[in-house]
Amino acid sequence: TPRVFSGVQPTGNLHLGNYLGAIRKFVALQESHDCIYCVVDLHSITVQLVHDDLRGQTRSITAAFLAAGIDPKQHIVFNQSRVPGHAELAWVFNCVARIGWMNRMTQFKEKAGKDRENASLGLLAYPSLMAADILLYRATHVPVGDDQKQHLELTRDIAAKFNNDFSDKIAAAGVGQPIQMGDETVNGYFPITEPLIEGPATRVMSLKDGSKKMSKSDPSDLSRINLTDDADAISRKIRKARTDPDALPSEVDGLTGRPEADNLIGIYAALAERSKAEILAEFGGRQFSEFKPAMAELAVEKLAPVSGEMRRLLAAPDHIDAVLKDGGERAGAIAAATMNDVKDIIGLLRD
Ligand code: TYM
Repeated sequence: TPRVFSGVQPTGNLHLGNYLGAIRKFVALQESHDCIYCVVDLHSITVQLVHDDLRGQTRSITAAFLAAGIDPKQHIVFNQSRVPGHAELAWVFNCVARIGWMNRMTQFKEKAGKDRENASLGLLAYPSLMAADILLYRATHVPVGDDQKQHLELTRDIAAKFNNDFSDKIAAAGVGQPIQMGDETVNGYFPITEPLIEGPATRVMSLKDGSKKMSKSDPSDLSRINLTDDADAISRKIRKARTDPDALPSEVDGLTGRPEADNLIGIYAALAERSKAEILAEFGGRQFSEFKPAMAELAVEKLAPVSGEMRRLLAAPDHIDAVLKDGGERAGAIAAATMNDVKDIIGLLRD
């Protein structure tokens, strides 16, 4: 059966990019898939080990999942560090993946900066832990924003190398399954995961610079709309968003070379759950001074219920904590079965 896994780091404020690029897609996939959604607290200690309020941030992401409409009874919501299999399988993958694969990751290069020798070893191995997150549940589909594409390719490479290196052992342990690898079907253990990166908001850009991704770490708060912003803040940020002086085009082609216009139209389309072409058919020829108030109204209409519900859940976090505990137990059972298979495949002695 198709199984979805995705994760969100509990560092910094969730913004519109996280919501449109990831969380809202998590919600939609619940209809058709078994879903596991994880607050990846172990990933968030790779850049900086000590955070002011990691527990609070973990609860806050969980609140966003629930407020957005994820059903933790039907599906699984938990925080990564509760399930020891993530770290265990990541270790095995550290021995499958090559240092060169990790060195090529653009996110590592960006986050490590100039002084790469001084980055944590955990930051280098970050994608190996991410592959472990996904493959611990043998997930087949992973909804993410465009910035995670390279990490998901690496996850596929790790699964393929594991299946290939251990093909005899997988057969001997009797735990193989048919795995689609390109055109052929082989007997393997880990699926070759499909990334789900679709729609008008896979890469939401900064409101201040159409060439930069909207990000939790941008020092300017005006660059992003946070999920917890109130109506005034949302309207002000959209009003101040950078644009060019021209009127909006009537067709999608007309957005080429106009990154700020493209970004705002993409955000509007994603919020309205319509295509960019439909939005331009409506607003083509009009000025940003007309478009921006309409966009602000739509953003407030869509985001206010989510932030309101988040606040309500966070005011008494017992429910959140209970969800994470229950989700951790259910995820842990799946993870334990995988770890037993993996130990049998690679020949680690166990009871
Ligand atoms: P993170 O926490 O940085 O972001 C969470 C999700 O939000 C997406 N996203 C965006 N989408 C569109 N536009 C943007 N500007 C934007 N910024 C962020 C991200 O692509 C992501 O889907 N490594 C991951 C977390 C992770 C994970 C996993 C994801 C750990 N293990 C396993 C999937 C499967 C990360 O740092 O996401």
